[in-house]
Amino acid sequence: MKPLKNRPHVLVFDSGLGGLSVVNALIDGMLGVDVFHLADTAFFPYGEKPDEALILRVPAVILAGIEATSADLVVVACNTASTLALDAVRAQVEIPVVGVVPAIKPAAALTQTGTIGLLATPKTVTRPYTDQLIAAFGAGKTVLRHGAVGLAGAAETKLAGETPDPQIFEAAIQGLFDQKGGEAIDVIVLACTHYPLVQAELETLAPHPVTWVDSGAAIARRTADLLHDQMDQGVTALRTGLTTGGADKATRRVLKSFGFQTTQALDV
Ligand code: DGL
Repeated sequence: MKPLKNRPHVLVFDSGLGGLSVVNALIDGMLGVDVFHLADTAFFPYGEKPDEALILRVPAVILAGIEATSADLVVVACNTASTLALDAVRAQVEIPVVGVVPAIKPAAALTQTGTIGLLATPKTVTRPYTDQLIAAFGAGKTVLRHGAVGLAGAAETKLAGETPDPQIFEAAIQGLFDQKGGEAIDVIVLACTHYPLVQAELETLAPHPVTWVDSGAAIARRTADLLHDQMDQGVTALRTGLTTGGADKATRRVLKSFGFQTTQALDV
């Protein structure tokens, strides 16, 4: 049965639970919308998957999610998916699509030293889309990139209430600051939606204080702009957390404890 609606439905899509950092921003933004989260857990992590597979899978999973939730707008809350497949998604869905891509523009405005660290998945750091963002918004700045292996997984581990391997955080920080010129980094872009969920762990390891930038608040503003006519002021309600794949009971438990009223398995 499709969910009944009297407020706009926003579908937040990610490979896993990183979309929850964007849901947090929607809650902070006090958007009068109903939020559904879709985690493609059957195919997690995207950051280590071939592009050919992702470009087929991402639109298919999102279409199934829109159908299941009667969504009015979808947020592709995954930098790895957005930097590859936004055009493919937009070509196949009929509702507005908000992409989440590395926040180079605000980082360039914030840096005092002119050196920005870009922390993302191994796929996102190498994408032409990321090159274009840096060329367009990072002119005159030095952007040092690091593709972090296992960091999104560490965020999932933390959400599940377990202790992630501390070496994953150390490797992420060293991957940025140990590069030539890395000591000048004063702003770090968290260009994977999982990373704001482990910002505290990263912060304690940074050799000096830096400004951490993510896309959450900008995505909440963009969503509010697009739904302006349909939306009342008010609280953001968390409706259903959907997951692909059968063996992800733990993920659904996390979604429930995060505040989603129900959880549901989605067949793709
Ligand atoms: N949360 C995703 C992103 O923003 C990626 C995590 C993954 O590797 O699946 O890039």
